[in-house]
Amino acid sequence: MKILVVGGGGREHALVWKFSQEKSLEILCAPGNGGISLNAKCFDARTVHDILELALKERVDLTVVGPEAYLAEGLVDEFEAKGLKVFGPNRKAAKIESSKVFAKCLMEKYGVPTARFRVFDDAVQAERHIETCEFPIVIKADGLAQGKGTYIALNHHEALRAIDSLMRKRIFGEAGKMIIIEEFLSGREVSLMVLSDGEDFVPLLSAMDYKRAHDHDRGPNTGGMGAVAPAPHYSEEIFEMVRRNVLEKLSLAFQKEGIIYKGILYIGLMITNQGPKVLEFNARFGDPETQVVLPLMKTNLSEICFAVVEGKLSKLKLDWLDEKCVCVVLASAGYPGDYEVGFTIEGLELVEVLIFHAGTKLVDGRFITSGGRVLNVCATAKTYTEARERVYREVQKIHFKGVHYRKDVALNMN
Ligand code: AMP
Ligand code: GLY
Repeated sequence: MKILVVGGGGREHALVWKFSQEKSLEILCAPGNGGISLNAKCFDARTVHDILELALKERVDLTVVGPEAYLAEGLVDEFEAKGLKVFGPNRKAAKIESSKVFAKCLMEKYGVPTARFRVFDDAVQAERHIETCEFPIVIKADGLAQGKGTYIALNHHEALRAIDSLMRKRIFGEAGKMIIIEEFLSGREVSLMVLSDGEDFVPLLSAMDYKRAHDHDRGPNTGGMGAVAPAPHYSEEIFEMVRRNVLEKLSLAFQKEGIIYKGILYIGLMITNQGPKVLEFNARFGDPETQVVLPLMKTNLSEICFAVVEGKLSKLKLDWLDEKCVCVVLASAGYPGDYEVGFTIEGLELVEVLIFHAGTKLVDGRFITSGGRVLNVCATAKTYTEARERVYREVQKIHFKGVHYRKDVALNMN
């Protein structure tokens, strides 16, 4: 059986690695990266058109989509029109991530708990609105911005700067045509990925990621500098609230709005004093959450993906290791701002835990850096402390020019 994974980051390497545990599978990846090329045959297909051609030519049995941009562009719609099996929501359903305005309005309409918000399509009105706000407030671009379109403004000056960047300078282009200004929520965050086959929801293990660039949550937001699973402050009681207040309401919302959601729904939650509230939805696997959830999964991933695509989730039983997983991201100097690439990565062969490659290339038999987030080093153990110690011990063995990483992932967790 042939499986095609679309994408080329750490999340996709984790997916490819998990599929590669099943000996009966032949795994393809487009475009992949240096590390992925050791587990899968990589193809330089990057547009929806080229990826579709590849899947048809190679007679792929199932395609699994990583990045959100392909979902927003309608890759799934095009594959389904050709009768191909594909894991991921169609364009209409993926709007839950590709338009934050759409997602917030859907939540408001169906009573899903989320931060109070206002939508603006005019910078002057947005600027006028912040005169009346109590700080901090949160300002978000409507469209896709690679996880960088959210600003937490501590004062009036920062809010003005965010509005200017998004709406006037248009640093994320059309994504900043509309913005959301919302209430700041306090609490602890949980990332919950939920499988959906259009009928049923089945949650995966919870996780949490480390979004800020520097230790103790300082510095700018990044795509994610580390993760742990399960989230230490998550419980059955919280899940019960999520089931009742988020999943049941979404199920009704999808039904009423004619949305058939198939694939993974990523729910970013803030656990507040008033219970869990939704920060955001993503229409795909989280990155780097996938890198900590998949190593704990005992069930075959192909079985899960086919159950989703074929609408058979109610029959699926998921098995998990009773362990913790910790992931630390090794990044290029300057990330999430500008950075240089092309540096040789040394020491990988000495590492005794899982490494998922993100921004790497294999050139003449050696790995070189090719992106902002370069490597994900992951370990599982009975406790967070043990998994953390193993990861950081192995991280010391890896070197490339300018490498930086957070030192506080899974610190003080038991
Ligand atoms: P988002 O772009 O919506 O995924 O938000 C990125 C990150 O910004 C989240 O993971 C939170 O850490 C933070 N964030 C987003 N919305 C809020 C909010 N309303 N209150 C507090 N923090 C937020
Ligand atoms: N780790 C957050 C995301 O995947 O968007």
